[in-house]
Amino acid sequence: MNSESRTGDNYLDQTLRPHTWDEYIGQEIIKQNLKILLKAAEERGHPAEHILFYGPPGLGKTTLANLIAKETGRQIKITSGPAIEKVGDLASILTNLSEGDILFIDEIHRLNKSVEEVLYPAMESGVLDIIIGKGPSARTIQLDLPPFTLVAATTRISLLSSPLRSRFSGGVHRLEMYSLDEMEKIVDRSSHILGVIAEKQAIQEIAKRARSTPRTANYFLKRCRDYAQVHKHDLNTESVRKALQLLGVDELGLFETDRNLLRILIEKFNGGPVGLKTLAAATGDEESTIEDVVEPYLIQLGFIERTARGRIATEKAYEHLEIIK
Ligand SMILES: Nc1ncnc2c1ncn2[C@@H]1O[C@H](COP(=O)(O)OP(=O)(O)OP(=O)(O)O)[C@@H](O)[C@H]1O
Ligand SMILES: [Mg+2]
Repeated sequence: MNSESRTGDNYLDQTLRPHTWDEYIGQEIIKQNLKILLKAAEERGHPAEHILFYGPPGLGKTTLANLIAKETGRQIKITSGPAIEKVGDLASILTNLSEGDILFIDEIHRLNKSVEEVLYPAMESGVLDIIIGKGPSARTIQLDLPPFTLVAATTRISLLSSPLRSRFSGGVHRLEMYSLDEMEKIVDRSSHILGVIAEKQAIQEIAKRARSTPRTANYFLKRCRDYAQVHKHDLNTESVRKALQLLGVDELGLFETDRNLLRILIEKFNGGPVGLKTLAAATGDEESTIEDVVEPYLIQLGFIERTARGRIATEKAYEHLEIIK
């Protein structure tokens, strides 16, 4: 590792990542369930059953997968749905596993159908079905795989087929948005790791605006630290306000994209209801970006409601944008 990547943001992301259950703040129910699953499996001398995490980006799915490996002392092999293009790719990953390994497949909703079908028997019975030859002379041979635990993550659970979903017999967990209290703990922890001297109110201000999302909190903290450093003072509320204003982030943590979506929903569609497709066409965003990235926080704030007839802007959204209904 060269000195630049050592001090760069990516390196910092690694250092900020929690390495123990205690450092991983919040998601208490998931943590309790995982601890029981992992302990029981260890006592029986088997790898744990397969686990799926889902929820919006930046809430800690990848972190959990790594934590499971760390806390159980297992090796983790990391790959992702789009990286496994062919059945052969998956076969080579599976046959290279050692007993008890954790296989982490990120973005599992992007696996293609033929790969998915090879994954089923591997998950269920620990075997790999390989077809040799073509046409009438084709035959299937079965290879026994070393017992392993598949941990998968997705931001789009709705795109997972139900046969795949049902094979995560160790648990399917939805990550929750973090409470303000948890967000403060996360920003406080990260500021200590980064060696940032920060006023308590500054930490609270970052936590409040970080969209209930740890990744955003860490990003804001680093940008606010930069701002304070360049202006040669400690991190205080004033520098947080100014740094975030420069990034286009308002007091509630909304970005311009969020405000734009609300404005279009209100001004073009009279507050809704409007379907996702129409809204995406009007804002110029991808439907998936709206659903996975923009909406979860707007819904949490109570600015948008998802109804059967489409999205509706609430009173609160009008108030925040100072638009009179
Ligand atoms: N519970 C937590 N406590 C403390 N820090 C956390 C927690 N969850 C996540 N983080 C921080 O937020 C960052 C982003 O988390 P992570 O990469 O695990 O998110 P993700 O859910 O996998 O996102 P994506 O869907 O984009 O892959 C991590 O690097 C870590 O520093
Ligand atoms: Mg991830």
